[in-house]
Amino acid sequence: QVSWKLEDHPKLPKGKTIAVVVLDGWGENKPDDYNCIHVAQTATMDSLKQGAPEKWRLIRAHGTAVGLPTEEDMGNSEVGHNALGAGRIFAQGAKLVDLALASGKIYEGEGFNYISESFEKGTLHLIGLLSDGGVHSRLDQLQLLLKGASEHGAKRIRVHFLTDGRDVSDGSSVGFVETIENDLANLREKGVDARIASGGGRMYVTMDRYENDWGVVKRGWDAQVLGEAPHKFTNAVEAVKKLRENANDQYLPPFVIVDEHNKAVGPIVDGDAVVTFNFRADRMVMLAKALEYQDFDKFDRVRFPKIRYAGMLQYDGELKLPSHYLVSPPEIDRTSGEYLVYNGIRTFACSETVKFGHVTFFWNGNRSGYFNPELEKYVEIPSDIGISFNLQPKMKALEIGERARDAILSHKFDQVRVNIANGDMVGHTGDIQATTVACKAADEAVKMILDAIEQVGGIYVVTADHGNAEDMVKRDKCGQPLYDKNGQLQILTSHTCHPVPIAIGGPGLGPDVRFRNDVPDGGLANVAATIMNLHGFVAPNDYEPTLIQVVDN
Ligand code: 3PG
Ligand code: CO
Repeated sequence: QVSWKLEDHPKLPKGKTIAVVVLDGWGENKPDDYNCIHVAQTATMDSLKQGAPEKWRLIRAHGTAVGLPTEEDMGNSEVGHNALGAGRIFAQGAKLVDLALASGKIYEGEGFNYISESFEKGTLHLIGLLSDGGVHSRLDQLQLLLKGASEHGAKRIRVHFLTDGRDVSDGSSVGFVETIENDLANLREKGVDARIASGGGRMYVTMDRYENDWGVVKRGWDAQVLGEAPHKFTNAVEAVKKLRENANDQYLPPFVIVDEHNKAVGPIVDGDAVVTFNFRADRMVMLAKALEYQDFDKFDRVRFPKIRYAGMLQYDGELKLPSHYLVSPPEIDRTSGEYLVYNGIRTFACSETVKFGHVTFFWNGNRSGYFNPELEKYVEIPSDIGISFNLQPKMKALEIGERARDAILSHKFDQVRVNIANGDMVGHTGDIQATTVACKAADEAVKMILDAIEQVGGIYVVTADHGNAEDMVKRDKCGQPLYDKNGQLQILTSHTCHPVPIAIGGPGLGPDVRFRNDVPDGGLANVAATIMNLHGFVAPNDYEPTLIQVVDN
């Protein structure tokens, strides 16, 4: 039985309006031409930095600080927002899948058992992101699963991959496809009928999120399930090389692999088993719904095959979706959002579609919906669809700033929480100029929110979930930009391992409140206790320690 009542903070008052601003993809890095945050005019964020060390500091946002397997793992929005909201560090999907594969437990669980019922007569389809980025999936996990599934009875396997170029370098897809082709050839030698069946770029095929554009999922469905696509090839490596002439890895059009009679080699049909092998939820939930829900009206599925479907993880704990899964997700319980709502904190959360679930679903421990609709209001501002964000780098920053401002000025909320997407979404395009525009727009949105906090005598907490825009190039060990053999700068589209800033302030923050100096390794998980304190509460005992102290004058 959870006791939801939070103790009163001995020194900090209640009743202040707190703005919580998460800048997506906004890390701290040395200034140079490829640090778009440095290059951009970011007067507001620069002024916050002047408050160091008492009101501004850096916190860790990657690796084990956010529950990832190693310190080489860059941060990402899922684990970042989980840590920010939950106030504790949970072993995350990447790690849990590693453990389940290493111990072999993955083959003993309910999920594998369920799909293996189809192995005798049906095909096992594996759908997911082909990448070693470790954000949504990992190549080595797919390799182990292929091997393990065949050893546990799968006789016919089809891989449907999405190419990355977002969490890893553009162009790396070719090597990943070669690796998988090689593994499949090895399986064929052992008598398993194993092949690639379809493919496409993650941003154009299948991996949409937060219902931004169902057309993306439909394109994938047509290729994966119906075996129909505008491009047909007999070889997947050739397919990717050819399609890359007109598109990058993120945006490759869908294609299917066909046999000598021009027939797709791996549509999904009645009696088959399907596994979506991404461990991360946001960009798999839409496909999971299409695969699992009998009633479904988001696009015409044409055919709804009777399959046994399992996710690598369960992607949504509230919807229990999918109902079968190979590995149990991290049990992120007792999040700060839930505690605060129980303690009467009226909460407003807002972002644009592409990040909306970050500041709600991920923040609340991968749980959709409200804890208490009477106290909470979540506002989604529709993102532009069908456009790469380098062409629209200001995105909806202004609109988010305005909605947050209005929420603050309304006095109807105690916490106003936003995610401002620009640094990340434009950073992922690899367009340096556009990312600079993006950072300026994000900074202006922060200003709008801080101005509102000033008016109501409130408090702000400004931080980020992981790095991205502060480094747009790959570098050598000495930090110098790397060039390819044609003398082209090697662009970094991915996140980074840099720390992120956190700043506190506003008229409601007593002059005696400042960052402690005894949590030098503090990370994103320390933020929840900090925010609870600013609302006038002491955080639960097992939360990571607060970053602030109240000094005696
Ligand atoms: C994406 O899904 O866009 C990237 O793989 C990760 O970005 P995010 O973690 O910032 O959402
Ligand atoms: Co990102």
